Amino acid sequence: MGKITVFDHPLIQHKISIMRSKDTSCKEFRELVKEVTMFMCYEALRDIPLKEVEIETPLTKCKTNVLAGPEIAIVPILRAGLGMVEGVQELVPTAKVGHIGLYRDEVTMQPHEYYCKLPSGIEDRRIIVTDPMLATGGSAVAAINFIKERGGRNIKFMCMIAAPEGLKVLCESHPDVDIFCAHLDEGLNEHCYILPGLGDAGDRIFGTK
Ligand code: PRP
Ligand code: URA
Repeated sequence: MGKITVFDHPLIQHKISIMRSKDTSCKEFRELVKEVTMFMCYEALRDIPLKEVEIETPLTKCKTNVLAGPEIAIVPILRAGLGMVEGVQELVPTAKVGHIGLYRDEVTMQPHEYYCKLPSGIEDRRIIVTDPMLATGGSAVAAINFIKERGGRNIKFMCMIAAPEGLKVLCESHPDVDIFCAHLDEGLNEHCYILPGLGDAGDRIFGTK
């Protein structure tokens, strides 16, 4: 079974609380998504491989560690996952970015794919799939299916808010994937929205409502 990390850090809890408020502006919401992603990414990349290189300091030569290639791939689930890309890039500027376009049918709640473009050599890269919301889990499971069908193997999933229902579905469907969520909420309402949640993450990031 993959590792599940739910963050209990006070700064993350504080920022998530501000994100939840309906009075938080789009601009502030986007900034908070980026900041929380940075904190989570720091932990999610704890096991990223290093290689030893020789460097000359102003005083002497020394052997020291730098990130080993190939560069990681960030794969946001469109649209809302885009809001988390900058937070990862801030820490790993060389990361490549792929995109998976999915939307949840508002009646059936089933995910529909409309776009998939992944960085070359995806089979050898460490992959971070981003989406702020893990609700029923349908979108995350479908996105990871697409990545695996294209050869991706080393996958982590990162979200802001998870519902227990979605977490269970994702763990059972992809037991090899490590999951990082900033907060685990109570559950889903009758429309499969997360409660208490933060509403529609895409609308809040892009100002579409
Ligand atoms: C939202 C969210 C996830 C999905 C989660 O996207 O960003 O991708 O729903 O729900 P699930 O776990 O039940 O699949 P949505 O389909 O609303 O598309 P959007 O990002 O374009 O707004
Ligand atoms: N998608 C969202 O954006 N929010 C939810 O609560 C559930 C799915």
